[in-house]
Amino acid sequence: MSDWKNNIDLKRLPRHIAIIMDGNGRWAKQQGHLRIFGHENGVKSVREVAEGCAELGVEYVTLYAFSTENWNRPKDEVDALMSLLVTTLKGELETLNKNNIRLRAIGNIDSLPEKCAEELKDTMKKTEQNTRLNMVLALSYSSYWEITEAVKKIATDVKNNNIKVDEIMPETITANLNTAGFPNPELMIRTSGEHRLSNYLLWQMAYAEFYFTDILWPDFRKKDLANAIIDFQNRERRFGKTSEQIAAEQTQ
Ligand code: IPE
Ligand code: IPE
Ligand code: MG
Repeated sequence: MSDWKNNIDLKRLPRHIAIIMDGNGRWAKQQGHLRIFGHENGVKSVREVAEGCAELGVEYVTLYAFSTENWNRPKDEVDALMSLLVTTLKGELETLNKNNIRLRAIGNIDSLPEKCAEELKDTMKKTEQNTRLNMVLALSYSSYWEITEAVKKIATDVKNNNIKVDEIMPETITANLNTAGFPNPELMIRTSGEHRLSNYLLWQMAYAEFYFTDILWPDFRKKDLANAIIDFQNRERRFGKTSEQIAAEQTQ
């Protein structure tokens, strides 16, 4: 029987996959619908990816759901996205718990409408014991915002004599980001044929492998996730070393 995950090497999975879920608006437009129809249909793809990552044993999947810059979209679309978030969270709680998935969030959660922030916090609380997969939603998120907040926290720590300027290390920055404690994403997937990062996890993805596909987000399925992971597994990650060094390390 051919299974979607047949060609994946389960011993060499990325621990953390970051996804830019893009192309909902174009998907809807192609079918003569309003943009929100695309967002609604993107929820199925989120489910597929969450299930897929859980089945495989990926530990973290971080989904870019709403960027700081997305606040600049027409008010109707922003409102519709926020209410879609609330209904989806309500509707998925049972499935998250059944699949042992923990919901988490990064971004400026307090900038979300109160109802959204509450529903989100409630779902996070009710799934916090789950251990199979961390599903992280990036909401009202941008790296510029996140890094600026980290700088403010570190500056305050310096002012309060909790740390000296000379003691600030890359690890200090990492520990002050919203993703503190998460492994860095090893694989970044962006759908819809756009080749850019759009202010996403800039610090954390310093050494991530990028995978771009023309598939629009509402069409993204488990087999597409598998293709991205297989592509990732065929790459040589050198981290600044030479190919010969990497080969020697692997035979050790
Ligand atoms: C991604 O799809 C979802 C969000 C940004 C919220 P888009 O809404 O950006 O869809 P396109 O890129 O306009 O097709
Ligand atoms: C990035 O997509 C943000 C999300 C997927 C939530 P956009 O569609 O907003 O990105 P740009 O504007 O095309 O770079
Ligand atoms: Mg887009």
